Amino acid sequence: MEKKNKESFGSKFGIIAAAAGSAIGLGNIYRFPCEAGANGGGAFFIVYLAIVLFMGLPLMVTEFVIGRRSGKNPVGAFKSLAPGHKGWARLGYLGVICSFLILAFYCTVAGWTIDAVWKAITNYYHGKDLATVQFGFDSLKEETWQPIICEAVFVFLTAFIIIKGVTKGIEKYSKILMPILLGILIILGIKALTLPGAAEGVKFFLKPDFSKINGTVVVNALGQAFFSLSIGMGILITYGSYIAKNDNLTSTAFSVCICDTIIAILAGIVIFPAAFSFGITPEAGDSLAFVTLPMLFNQMAGGYFFCLFFFVLLTIAALTSSISLLEAPVLYFTEELGISRKKATTYSAIGVFVLCIIASLSLHSDTCLKIGSFSFFNLLDYITATFLMTIGGLLTVIFLGWKMKKEDFYDEFTNDNTVNMRLRKAMYFIIKYISPLAITVILITQFIK
Ligand code: TRP
Repeated sequence: MEKKNKESFGSKFGIIAAAAGSAIGLGNIYRFPCEAGANGGGAFFIVYLAIVLFMGLPLMVTEFVIGRRSGKNPVGAFKSLAPGHKGWARLGYLGVICSFLILAFYCTVAGWTIDAVWKAITNYYHGKDLATVQFGFDSLKEETWQPIICEAVFVFLTAFIIIKGVTKGIEKYSKILMPILLGILIILGIKALTLPGAAEGVKFFLKPDFSKINGTVVVNALGQAFFSLSIGMGILITYGSYIAKNDNLTSTAFSVCICDTIIAILAGIVIFPAAFSFGITPEAGDSLAFVTLPMLFNQMAGGYFFCLFFFVLLTIAALTSSISLLEAPVLYFTEELGISRKKATTYSAIGVFVLCIIASLSLHSDTCLKIGSFSFFNLLDYITATFLMTIGGLLTVIFLGWKMKKEDFYDEFTNDNTVNMRLRKAMYFIIKYISPLAITVILITQFIK
């Protein structure tokens, strides 16, 4: 988003597309299958859906309400809605720090995506067997320069889009491109489901084994939901500040949650049946996306083009997310510290890139950038998704429920008593009591472990 001239999104579709652009990305196609695979498949999936509906949606509404009410970026929003309570502005800073850390993780994975685009262009995957494709991906992580160059390309593209102020332009294209991504996923799903042995994968992903639900599954589902919906760090507060006064915030948030969840489900429906069919275990993590998918393309008529299109579109989906992440520190530097947009973007991008280099080097098998069995890369992901975002989300709902005036919430939520009149009490109750309680309980169980 560009300047704060308080114009609002042109249309309701505009805001949904922009927020969905931030939400849909590597989180859906790369991270969701990793988490689902590592946390028991169906058990994770059912918990995930419940969390999106009962915690993700209310939190997204909360961020939209805070944003539209204040008309400001997160730091400014907390300052203006709770004057005299300086501490709350720090919540905005938490989001800024969190963006840096997530971006470092994100750009590393995006680097692999760029590498996959290159491999697709050069027809590298063609005719290769599983062992070879797997070996190629594993060696990429062991390389020094190749991943760093790919990451540099991605960080550069992100910064370039922000400096040029063409974020809106990109969002415009993504309105056309993301439905194409959806279309390709559907075709891939059909192909995956017809592979021999696919049924096992479907069963793994969709059939919940309730005995597998435990604290770890719940906390991971919570982290994944926050990550995938881009909530808990105040990023959507900024989006909220651009939403027109007569837009229905609840239905907007609902649409974004639906779009995001559909893409994640489709990713699961493509990846697990294919993985089971090829003999890749669901705990394979990074390989689930970066090995299974190329192998699937290999089996398809027109595989070359599907593969190329898919990874290009995935890169674009990742870009619309990474620009929303980089926008957070940039907005803070420009609005609160008065630094020019170009400088703010350049410095932030350099900072991200440095962290990103460390993250990708930490994946070498002979690295010293590990704490126990945790590489710096995993650590970034774990700290942000498990703690920072959930704590950020917790504080955000507490802010709305306990610091903001109830009437302010009602006015904003109902567009001055015109929509959602019946829903407002239930939503307020969830935001004020249920969400904080649930997040606290989940976090405490994780801390005890
Ligand atoms: N939601 C994005 C994805 O799924 C990643 C992302 C973009 C994000 N902006 C965010 C995550 C803000 C957390 C917070 O790929």
